[in-house]
Amino acid sequence: MNTIDAETLRSWLEAGRQVVVLDVRSAADRASWAIPGSLHVDAYADLKALDPHALDGVSLPADIPVVTVCNSGHTSLIASRQLQTRGIEAISLEGGMRAWSLSWNTADVLLKDSNAQVIQIRRVGKGCLSYLIGSQNEAVVIDASLDPEVYLNLAQSRGWRITAVLDTHIHADHLSRSRLLAEQSDATVYLPDQQRVAYPFMPVRHGSIIKVGEASLMVIPTPGHTQESISYLLDRQALFTGDTLFLQGVGRPDLHASVEEARAHAQLLHHSLHHHLLLLPARTLILPGHTNTPAPFDKIPLTASLGDLRNQVKLLQLSESEFVETLVSRIPPVPPNHERIIELNEAGSLIENPIELEAGANNCAVS
Ligand SMILES: [Fe+2]
Repeated sequence: MNTIDAETLRSWLEAGRQVVVLDVRSAADRASWAIPGSLHVDAYADLKALDPHALDGVSLPADIPVVTVCNSGHTSLIASRQLQTRGIEAISLEGGMRAWSLSWNTADVLLKDSNAQVIQIRRVGKGCLSYLIGSQNEAVVIDASLDPEVYLNLAQSRGWRITAVLDTHIHADHLSRSRLLAEQSDATVYLPDQQRVAYPFMPVRHGSIIKVGEASLMVIPTPGHTQESISYLLDRQALFTGDTLFLQGVGRPDLHASVEEARAHAQLLHHSLHHHLLLLPARTLILPGHTNTPAPFDKIPLTASLGDLRNQVKLLQLSESEFVETLVSRIPPVPPNHERIIELNEAGSLIENPIELEAGANNCAVS
């Protein structure tokens, strides 16, 4: 065996199997995104030049398989062959980091005073977080960013039937799988009330309630990141904030906007945070729509209490004018292909192979 596909590597890591992942990309490529727990050697140029000594300085355990990784699976194959000549069991990740983009892992979120169970599903190849919430024999999915099969299998393994599929806003960094998931599970799609999406959906607005078994999700409008952005409050315990509030920052206010419009959106975001979300009890668990670092295969949910975030996220301590100016001055690079992604999400369309279109780390946050 000379290669391994991304799904097999994903399942090895999820199962805790011993494997060394060796990233041979340039430091610049690695800086944008990486496989959690991987080792790095900046050997890309030497391997490309077929230098037989490219990996000489790398020390690796003799008895653990090594998976070599590059951008698209070609240079990593050269690396794995070089390691094989040293007697190391080395295989190359097919399709490299591009193929890894669809990888995921899960973590259970424990809630103290709710009968609902929450699974955080981390698209670890890109940083998108989605959620499966089950109660009795029903489940809802929030912000589906992976193949519907992932959610259908997880729901089935817990004895749940997916009855509702929800998005927090019209996404710009990944293709929403919500419409397809709803079709495949015979569920209803709930979206914020807006005029952008062209396919049939159930609009939700301030105070709308979506029931799942014995639990309920309440809609809180939180415009700012986008005009239609909403958050969902589960049993007054957990808040799914989409791209409004992250564990290290807040949502960017600028996509499809001039600087003046971005300022107005930042003002809206400040209002949403301070007049809605931050008024909730400090113990409310925040479950965001993205993470800016790859989630480890550690089953530990990425979450924090609202009280902790109030203390830790400096942006939340700024006055409105400070907040607006700080946000506008820290806007990250625009996500590649966002205009096409928005267009497809508004149409409710998917494409055959989304990997190229969705390439790149998410850039949804300002911190
Ligand atoms: Fe977003």
